Amino acid sequence: MKLWGGRFTKETNQLVHNFNASISFDQKFFEQDIEGSIAHVTMLAKQGIITNDERDQITSGLSSILEDILKGILEIGMEHEDIHSFVEAHLIERIGAAGKKLHTGRSRNDQVALDMKLYTRDELGVIDSLTKELLVSIHTIMESNLETFMPGFTHLQKAQPVTLAHHFGAYFEMFKRDRGRLHDITKRMNLSPIGSGALAGTTYPLDRDYTSSLLGFDGPTLNSMDSVSDRDYLIELLSALSTIMMHLSRFCEEIIIWNSNEYRFVELDDAYSTGSSIMPQKKNPDIAELVRGKTGRVYGSLMALLTVMKGLPLAYNKDMQEDKEYTFDAIDTVKGCLALFNGMVSTMKFNKEVMAQSAKNGFTNATDAADYLVNKGIPFRDAHGVIGQLVLYCIDKDIALEQMSLEEFRQISPVFEEDIYEAISLTTCVNKRNTIGAPGKQAMTQVLKLNEEYLNL
Ligand code: ARG
Repeated sequence: MKLWGGRFTKETNQLVHNFNASISFDQKFFEQDIEGSIAHVTMLAKQGIITNDERDQITSGLSSILEDILKGILEIGMEHEDIHSFVEAHLIERIGAAGKKLHTGRSRNDQVALDMKLYTRDELGVIDSLTKELLVSIHTIMESNLETFMPGFTHLQKAQPVTLAHHFGAYFEMFKRDRGRLHDITKRMNLSPIGSGALAGTTYPLDRDYTSSLLGFDGPTLNSMDSVSDRDYLIELLSALSTIMMHLSRFCEEIIIWNSNEYRFVELDDAYSTGSSIMPQKKNPDIAELVRGKTGRVYGSLMALLTVMKGLPLAYNKDMQEDKEYTFDAIDTVKGCLALFNGMVSTMKFNKEVMAQSAKNGFTNATDAADYLVNKGIPFRDAHGVIGQLVLYCIDKDIALEQMSLEEFRQISPVFEEDIYEAISLTTCVNKRNTIGAPGKQAMTQVLKLNEEYLNL
């Protein structure tokens, strides 16, 4: 059944129907469509626009449609233009005349705006929970690795020693900000568009505040033209999802590097790795690579929707139907990636010895050696030069700073004493860095406590 056949004298060309129809993808929000319709008719009856009996017939008809779809008894047929037409056609088929009143005081433009908002709001909650679960896994790994030393990198060159807890703590902050963004979006978008009509409101005495509160919104939107053509919240969502993917892809990249034969910092669980069809020795980090790769899809959706919306005149235009596939794909991608990444990271083994060894043999304590001289009264710039000479000497001999004898230290500067070994030991280098945010055990313990409060653990 078409919702608009009256004015037409010819059948729609089949290709036009196929091109125009959105049912193949907007069926995704059948639950929200029915939820919105029930709220709408509840309001219509309260306002005396339809009778209570009509409301009850429509509501039970809609509920039975919902139940049958969920049970798999009622299949969503692709001959319909969209999910709205499908539900209305079935309602009329089931309850007859009363069903024809469902669309009173409503347009598909405010209806679809509502459905998409309800769907997005639900999914924002799911993505938030998945992000929180990942944060809990990161937190657990941090807790047991406060003294797992590893090199910290800049330019992918060993720089200064840190701990695994500190390194993971950086990702904790990123995903915490991601959740903040999701919350901001939920707050800003939570205004109800239903009752805006096609673009200019309606002549019926609708109670938009009432529908809004029935559906858990903070209030009605305040301009009907904007209400039916606002897709900002989807662009914000796609931007926040892109940022989550960017964070995941950085984390994946590190895991791929750490899992390589050259690094061997971590070993992925067999359940989260794959093999090669030709090379029997291979155990590949496919999941990490795929998550990294799927980042492109989500960025693509953001760019696509920004471009769809660019230059669109007010109010609703059919272009806006394009918002759905991009948004759905991005939401599903991010949900899948968060869940898989979480599984991969929480089953991964850390080769703590290899990490500590790597921290030891990359001159990651050179800054601390310079600081040692500064504490003995040498100006930092001179100390920097002296340690530079020491590093050159060690490279030549293929040894670490702490493997030099005291005599060798003294040949370069007489200021060195026995306490240099303690000053440049890994434990000292890390645990002396105790300003908040630094890798030292004391500072990290403070941060862990704050994270615990944040997670309500
Ligand atoms: N499938 C349409 C969409 O998603 C529903 C709104 C149709 N409105 C219209 N005026 N043709 O945008």
